[in-house]
Amino acid sequence: MKTAICPGSFDPVTLGHVDIIRRAATLFDKVIVAVLVNMEKKPWFTIEERTDLLKKATEGIPNVEIAGFEGLLVDFAAEHEACAIVKGLRAVSDFEYEFQMALTNSKLNHEIETVFLTTSAENMYLSSSIVKQVGLLGGDISPFVPDCVREEILLRINQRSQRK
Ligand code: PNS
Repeated sequence: MKTAICPGSFDPVTLGHVDIIRRAATLFDKVIVAVLVNMEKKPWFTIEERTDLLKKATEGIPNVEIAGFEGLLVDFAAEHEACAIVKGLRAVSDFEYEFQMALTNSKLNHEIETVFLTTSAENMYLSSSIVKQVGLLGGDISPFVPDCVREEILLRINQRSQRK
């Protein structure tokens, strides 16, 4: 059985992430979406909320599991007997950082391959932080995130504006 890991901070999951997870699930027997527990930047969503939103967003994909992870990604991958890490590449600007991570991970554990999937054209510009920014500025975020995520972002924005 071939297992792949789709890692990320998912703060929150976007339609771009869902597209990569869905396509990875057609290539591997099992895909574990690994959600980074301790983020450097303060996240909008707790690990439980990010995990819960991912579960809802990937509900229809049978061979996908969601799990939190701490520490080295390659250690998490090895614990789950995964053979690959799958990442989405949006643009040339992603490449240098992703390449650095892929080479580091390969040095740490050469048995785990990093596989890059090119993002679909309609998701090229998408990122969790851009979606949050558009939401904060009152823009329509419905083309960018699943409905359940849109509702949670709007709730968060409402709470922020009430605190001011
Ligand atoms: O969605 P992101 O923020 O681009 O995800 C980054 C992530 C979670 C893939 C990356 O930060 C990561 O792998 N963190 C685990 C720490 C690790 O293994 N570091 C060494 C290899 S770079």
